[in-house]
Amino acid sequence: MSIEQCYNLDDFRKLARRRLPSPLFHFMDGGADDETTLRGNTSAFDACQLLPSTLADISDLDISTTVLGHKIDWPVIMAPTGINRLFHHEGERAVARAAAKSGTIYSLSTMSNVSIEEIGALTTGPKCFQIYIHRDRGLTREFVQRTKAAGFDSLCLTVDTLVAGNRERDLKTGMIMPPKLTLKSLASFATHWRWAYNYLTSEKFELANLTNNQRAGAEKLISVIDYVNSQFDPSITWADAEELIAQWDGPFAVKGIMTAADAKRAVDIGATAILVSNHGGRQLDGAPSAFECLADIADAVGGKADIILDGGIRRGSHVLKALAMGADACSIGRGYLYPLAAGGEAGVTRALSQLRAEIERDMILMGCDRVAKLDRSKLRASGLDVQGFGGQVTAQLQNNSAILPRVVA
Ligand SMILES: Cc1cc2nc3c(=O)[nH]c(=O)nc-3n(C[C@H](O)[C@H](O)[C@H](O)COP(=O)(O)O)c2cc1C
Repeated sequence: MSIEQCYNLDDFRKLARRRLPSPLFHFMDGGADDETTLRGNTSAFDACQLLPSTLADISDLDISTTVLGHKIDWPVIMAPTGINRLFHHEGERAVARAAAKSGTIYSLSTMSNVSIEEIGALTTGPKCFQIYIHRDRGLTREFVQRTKAAGFDSLCLTVDTLVAGNRERDLKTGMIMPPKLTLKSLASFATHWRWAYNYLTSEKFELANLTNNQRAGAEKLISVIDYVNSQFDPSITWADAEELIAQWDGPFAVKGIMTAADAKRAVDIGATAILVSNHGGRQLDGAPSAFECLADIADAVGGKADIILDGGIRRGSHVLKALAMGADACSIGRGYLYPLAAGGEAGVTRALSQLRAEIERDMILMGCDRVAKLDRSKLRASGLDVQGFGGQVTAQLQNNSAILPRVVA
């Protein structure tokens, strides 16, 4: 199987699974505890349907939008994800280039393998840096200064990672630090010769933003999880976030907001974007899906900040449902990580253009030529409305459940 045989993100996921040693695939693919939130992120989109409309003249289709102070060509941006070098030797560089080519925002994680400075110089595309508030506030200020100096356009504060989530797939494969790989995991590294060759013959693995940084304790850095648990400050408050917003003084997103109350507070302290997210189901298992929280948050924010949704987006139709429900844009994590693992920059480029094409095609089928025209009137709740039919239709469908199982369920 090659990237040319991948027609959607599920195909890319299958190819990523083949290309990666299994501990790495599971690290990327997995979520916290029982993974109910992880699964719910995608399945929640089935709760509503997109209404087609026709004969509406959509010869002048334009799916551009503006978020985080930037006009982007299409309403999907790249979410920040750490240690991309594990998934492909081109790592973050590949994703940043593909995002710039597709005319959208690239977000660099604090935990990246490529530095703020290098990504700043790599492309002319719009860029966001994802930051955490560290116990050492001097280190946080240092990141802000470096991000400004490197020409990034926006800052995104992640607030849902005060402690690392419980990812049990990693415990089972031994993808913990220091690694405790099982025989099966070791065999998987040995048999993925292409990955192993590229990994061993390219630059060494490092957390590039922290390397040589005495403040970050880089010299005694053992792992990402150790870093999260030792360096991130679990005592942070809204006042700390407000101070950071003032320091940055530009487009600023708070990432990991899941309630209307928190969204309002973020707007009150000056956030210009709310990132509705449960960290791709990797933190609090049992939390609702991001999509389920979206309507309340959009209503509470009432246009005072951009709303960006992430979690579970695997299709253009998911993006359209989120936009119609109240988001201004969506962001994707695994949606570019699977393609990265499957085929580096070429994989990401192909996947982004397919996702964009899905959005454009569906907009045409919905008779809608601008994303700003997507609203809740374009959605309906899934399932049959049989009011007025005296239950006869329901009974008929129940008899026909082999043909229409999902509708009846
Ligand atoms: C492998 C991986 C690493 C991630 N690393 C980070 C990170 O460093 N910072 C962060 O704010 N979010 C991180 N996330 C969460 C993403 O930014 C995003 O919220 C999530 O991937 C969205 O869900 P999706 O993967 O279903 O699109 C990570 C997600 C994955 C899958």
